[in-house]
Amino acid sequence: MTIAPSSSSIPLIDHAIPVFRPYSGEEEIQAVAEVLRSGWWGQGPKTVEFEQRFSAFVGAKYAVSLNSATAALHLALTVAGVEGGEVITTPMTFVSTNHAVLYNHATPVFADVQADTLNLDPEQVERKITPRTRAIVVVHYGGRPADIDRLTEIARAHNLILVEDAAHAAGSSYHGRPVGSISPLTCFSFHPVKNLATGDGGMITLDNPEWDARLRRLRWVGINKDTWVRSRDKDSAGYAWEYDVDEAGYKYHTNDIMSAIALVQLQRLPQTNARRREIAALYQAGLSDLGWLELPPLVPEDCVSAQHNYVVRCANRDKLADWLREHRVATGMHYTPNHLHAMYKPYVTEPLPVVEREWLRLLTLPLYPALTDGDVQYIIDVIRAYHA
Ligand SMILES: Cc1ncc(COP(=O)(O)O)c(C=O)c1O
Repeated sequence: MTIAPSSSSIPLIDHAIPVFRPYSGEEEIQAVAEVLRSGWWGQGPKTVEFEQRFSAFVGAKYAVSLNSATAALHLALTVAGVEGGEVITTPMTFVSTNHAVLYNHATPVFADVQADTLNLDPEQVERKITPRTRAIVVVHYGGRPADIDRLTEIARAHNLILVEDAAHAAGSSYHGRPVGSISPLTCFSFHPVKNLATGDGGMITLDNPEWDARLRRLRWVGINKDTWVRSRDKDSAGYAWEYDVDEAGYKYHTNDIMSAIALVQLQRLPQTNARRREIAALYQAGLSDLGWLELPPLVPEDCVSAQHNYVVRCANRDKLADWLREHRVATGMHYTPNHLHAMYKPYVTEPLPVVEREWLRLLTLPLYPALTDGDVQYIIDVIRAYHA
């Protein structure tokens, strides 16, 4: 391959390689068509089926479908009862994780991350515990499971609830246990670029029946019977239209169009995640000898990463991003540490040296199931031709 020299940034053109891309086939189109023809587009039988299949997939008693992981995080922290307290959280995440703390009128307390995994550092979490701490929110960055054993130990010792933000981790497992079956509350995202993509969507998995019942009310504006259940209720003693409202819930429920896509995507997930890991291995093999480029740390043998992304590190990452863009390869940056955003400044109590150093070197390379071996080789060649 010849790589044309270039002196300036050019905008991405249509056939550039994107960073992320949803993967779907004829099955998703058929599944949506079936729902459209059925006459029941709202939350109904497809959603019930998806919840059953997803809870079985992760090995949790309950799975509560929502319209996003943002909604899932909001409601998970509500049932965890964090209002008025503090929540120890990571800065290395999409802002929804921490907005969810604020939606609950609680205070986010940022702890630093481990330099290699970019996951919350349990020792830094422990340092931040006060009598006001109610919960810990942990993100599995890129799908690589965080140190859940240690965080669970800390949570138990201090009577805190551990909430997992598994937006990147559908299909990850930790010491043989699927993510979603481990902590009291785990939140997933089905946003278009996530491993299981439905256009938008989220899920909370859990084992607690009271929380499950409350979450189902909270996602549907507080109403104590969803419309699908009421439509099946004709033979019971009550009137089908009857319901009560226990508290001011939210309009966070999903619909059967998204759930139909989700059912197909869930079936595909083992295969699409395997392809993601294959691509990561190709990057690893093609780039590991470059002294100026740091590759993501390998995942321990008894863990599985859903490999949501592939994040490399180097000095001057913007220059590398420009070089790749000039060669029609898009890149991303995940994430600006949340405590550096203007609105989170009031919550910063001390510097977080690891994340403040590392984020400046992060660059997300393209990774999605339909990326071909040829595309990956092209990206590798472009990176190898870059003069750091
Ligand atoms: C780590 C993390 N948490 C939460 C979210 C929010 O997910 P959603 O878009 O489904 O609300 C995202 C999505 O980008 C994410 O990456």
